[in-house]
Amino acid sequence: MEEGLSRREIIKGVGLVGIGAAFAKIGGMVSKAEAKGGKHEKWPWPYEKLDPAKTAEIAYNEWYRVFCGAAVIGSIFMQLRDKFGEPYASFPIDSFIFLEGGNVGWGTICGSNAGASVVSNVIIGPRIANVTEGHEIADEILEWYSKTAMPVFVPKDPRSNKTGIIKTTSNSPLCHVSVGRWMKASGKSIGSDERKDRCARVAASVAYRTVELLNDWKDGKYHSSATWTPVKSVGITAQQNCGNCHGSSVPMPPMKK
Ligand code: HEC
Repeated sequence: MEEGLSRREIIKGVGLVGIGAAFAKIGGMVSKAEAKGGKHEKWPWPYEKLDPAKTAEIAYNEWYRVFCGAAVIGSIFMQLRDKFGEPYASFPIDSFIFLEGGNVGWGTICGSNAGASVVSNVIIGPRIANVTEGHEIADEILEWYSKTAMPVFVPKDPRSNKTGIIKTTSNSPLCHVSVGRWMKASGKSIGSDERKDRCARVAASVAYRTVELLNDWKDGKYHSSATWTPVKSVGITAQQNCGNCHGSSVPMPPMKK
């Protein structure tokens, strides 16, 4: 096992965000093969540095129209549409409303995270095209989201939670866990104005962070701070918080091919 740790020893620490710190970055897994775009596909898409706070305000308001995933995508792509026209003009932002509620309400990945993955991979390109930063930004956002007390962003003119908002740390990129922990802490239902405002602020927070990372990439100074390499570290696609679902007996996947 890498760094002389057995999988058992790794799993002991599981449940805490950050256990991947001992392991190599995703870069090692990414093919450096020649850029091979599908027909008509070319990267990067044009990008000019955006204002994170302005982007977050757009995302906050768009949430009330298209919900989390499409709000994150639209907050960035609508500004780039204004600056560049195509290819952004033809990108079907509103279709991504399906990311709402963790993908059509199933509580899987929080749509804000999925939206950030769409944005970074569409602008910078996919890892098979000889670029890794789109993948890395998506990876970093998941980790950041999981360990950050959310929501971070405070809109200029909040529609609810006007006197302040409870923040919760999800330790998970999942909509179900993230929303559930906030609902438990706040005592507010899924249909409440407070919960809606909370998710709009989460989308805005993710849009803000995504633009910060894209701006760093544009300046040529982006370096991923993500540390979690599940497939390599634990032999299964996974998020870090094994104990959340498995309790104290986390199963080990078969490792041989
Ligand atoms: C969001 C909840 C969740 C998280 C987080 C999670 N798992 Fe699982 N995992 C499950 C469920 C549910 C199953 C299916 C269990 C079953 O069928 O008994 C499963 C199945 C597995 C299996 C295959 C089935 C088995 O029992 O051997 C392995 C191995 C496994 N998980 C390892 C992990 C590891 C390692 C982590 C953390 C790095 C992790 N899981 C994190 C929910 C989760």
